[in-house]
Amino acid sequence: MNIIEIITKKKNKEELKYEELKFVIDNYLNGNIKDYQMSSLLMAIVLNGMTEEETINLTDIMINSGDLIDLSSIDGVVVDKHSTGGVGDKTTLILAPLVASAGVRIAKMSGRGLGHTGGTIDKLESIKGFRVNLSNDEFIKQVNEVGCAVISQTQNIVPADKKLYALRDVTGTTESIPLIASSIMSKKIASGADAIVIDVKVGNGALMKDKESATSLANLMIKIGKYYNKKVVCVLTNMEEPLGHYIGNGLEVKEAMDVLNGEGPKDLKEIILTLGSIMVSLSKNISIDEAKQILIENIRTKKALNKFYEFIEAQGGDINNIDIEKNIISIKSSKDGFIKRIDTFKLGEIARKLGAGRLNKDDEILYGVGLVVNKKVGEFLFENEELLKVYGNTNNIEISEITECFEIVSDKQEKPKLIIDIIM
Ligand code: URA
Repeated sequence: MNIIEIITKKKNKEELKYEELKFVIDNYLNGNIKDYQMSSLLMAIVLNGMTEEETINLTDIMINSGDLIDLSSIDGVVVDKHSTGGVGDKTTLILAPLVASAGVRIAKMSGRGLGHTGGTIDKLESIKGFRVNLSNDEFIKQVNEVGCAVISQTQNIVPADKKLYALRDVTGTTESIPLIASSIMSKKIASGADAIVIDVKVGNGALMKDKESATSLANLMIKIGKYYNKKVVCVLTNMEEPLGHYIGNGLEVKEAMDVLNGEGPKDLKEIILTLGSIMVSLSKNISIDEAKQILIENIRTKKALNKFYEFIEAQGGDINNIDIEKNIISIKSSKDGFIKRIDTFKLGEIARKLGAGRLNKDDEILYGVGLVVNKKVGEFLFENEELLKVYGNTNNIEISEITECFEIVSDKQEKPKLIIDIIM
């Protein structure tokens, strides 16, 4: 067996066997297979796909490429959540304490942002002192005592995904359903939760651009979950516009706190209650409606907000010290009209250019910078009315680059549906 034969097989649309996939992953990890050979195989997979069996086999090999987290010392059914990535997606910051306030244990490993999408760990690090690296004992102890903990993905969990994802990101091989499914599910299974809720983003700011491909991805991840005896629920949500109004690390922490305080934008609240009530219902074996009522009540009574404070403090964060940039620039609309389309991918790229994200893996982030989008699709605004605020300096960005992200038209526009489908 050698890598050239394996690449050729995939090029000829043949199915790869378990031993062949294992040979590839083992030898890529130990450096015998080079990046250029792996890139070639990845591109053949992007173009020719993988069968369900190949995808499950690849997932299994990736899971076993590193350590498995044992959460058996955590009481009750542990539920995890994942998002396929979007712009302004601060749901984990809200869901972890909210769901924990309903008595569900959340032991969550999250990632950093890369490209145009943000990452939960960078957002949490905008809170001064917040520790994203806890020892395994500290992690388990905090989940048992506080109800939730969010830490950074350690080196040893699915190292194969770490290496492959970084390569996919720079070789145009990210947008492949079997590769995304095995990447997400290997990390979720290795992280040890009993049930998993996945927010599959759909639209111009997401990896899945249409409902059809998002549905295929969801069905594949549910099948992989079944193979490992894990309940997986996928919620398809709209990413044709940013989620909420705030984009950028410290800014998103602020908006998350607004929601936990009973305020915040309608779309963010709707997605939180949808994902959160499924998580609580899976863990407590109660109906989704019942779970939703508990969450609404916990927001009203500030139980969820207090849980957030407890969670941040337990990980060393100072909630009165969130990095938010002082330099603010107001961008106005050049005409009257209704917003028809927001180029969400480009807005994410602009936030990244401001310093909210990285171009290269090791770049330093500016935690305080970002954008606050005042108006969303379907809303009307007058000429010279504020369209958005830029937090930071626009030295390397043309203002027209920002305004061009918004298509404004004279006829009334429908507000897009946020929850597109729930698949279980
Ligand atoms: N999120 C992941 O973890 N992996 C992918 O491939 C895509 C989104």
